[in-house]
Amino acid sequence: MARIGILTGGGDCPGLNAVIRAVVRKGVNEYGHAIVGYKAGWRGVLNDDVVNLTPDNTSGILQRGGTILGSSRTNPFKEERGVERVKESLEEERIDGLIAVGGEDTLGVAAKLTSEGIDVVGVPKTIDNDLNATDFTFGFNTAVQICTDAIDRLHTTAESHNRVIVLEVMGRHAGWIATYAGIAGGADAILVPERPFDIDEVCEHIQHRHRKGRTFSIVVVAEGAKPQEGSEFVQEEAGKDAFGHVRLGGIGVGLEREIEQRTGFETRVTILGHIQRGGTPTAFDRVLATRFGIAAIDAVHEGDYGKMVALQGTKIVRVPLGDAVGTLKTLDPDLYSTAEVFFG
Ligand code: F6P
Repeated sequence: MARIGILTGGGDCPGLNAVIRAVVRKGVNEYGHAIVGYKAGWRGVLNDDVVNLTPDNTSGILQRGGTILGSSRTNPFKEERGVERVKESLEEERIDGLIAVGGEDTLGVAAKLTSEGIDVVGVPKTIDNDLNATDFTFGFNTAVQICTDAIDRLHTTAESHNRVIVLEVMGRHAGWIATYAGIAGGADAILVPERPFDIDEVCEHIQHRHRKGRTFSIVVVAEGAKPQEGSEFVQEEAGKDAFGHVRLGGIGVGLEREIEQRTGFETRVTILGHIQRGGTPTAFDRVLATRFGIAAIDAVHEGDYGKMVALQGTKIVRVPLGDAVGTLKTLDPDLYSTAEVFFG
């Protein structure tokens, strides 16, 4: 019997509990391991804050959003004696292997700790879907569905009032959510971080639509989208987190103002924010998270550390943690070209 730790770090997303449940169910019932949950991501490891996870206390959580373990954006490499404290805590709990469920930051820490001799297996999670070496992360599908539902609702009110509605969605460095939801919801323009936008072109799409007789438009913008250089847009910044990320949100407000001023069409903005990360996971995310959880406990059981479980095609595979972190998986240009066919 081994003692396996598990933590969930970074921004939460629907499906985290499905991973925890799968790890515990197979880890305890089939392998006879003990599963120790670290609370609030790497912070729980630093502070040795743990809870014993059993099939009983992880039952009934499959469909629950969030994470029963809590999450944080704590970075052990930014803390005094961070790595030593991680090692001490793992020793104190007699942990044989650790499962880290997270995105670029959490798994970036996991990759660095691997070089420090710590046995970690990663599970890819982020609503942004911008993690390398996996086709999809869980949480993304749910976020896209929430945004698509929002676009459907915004369509009817935009039509009633002959308005342009700007929907701001998450996506710090990548426009996956904006593009998937924009295609699914029939957006008239989609603005993503990968392609600095020209406000005149955005307004031209809207004016072209209105010249064709349409009386409303929907613009989807990822929070990390930026205007082309030399533009008058100013995006407000509100502090940074432990990984140095600027807190985003607000590009939609500038777009609302500019579009209304330049086109003369009444414009409103909706910022979806953390609604995209809350609530129950879709069936797709429950299945993917469950498969990842099972694959992670299998990897730990076999002692195959320094890996991340990943979806490639329809198969769950193991890739070196280092392949997943360092560079982000930005939007597929072909997907954006598909979306562009429907602009204006
Ligand atoms: O985890 C990804 C994400 O949801 C991004 O899309 C967003 O920019 C960020 O997290 C928000 O972080 P926080 O919840 O810390 O404000």
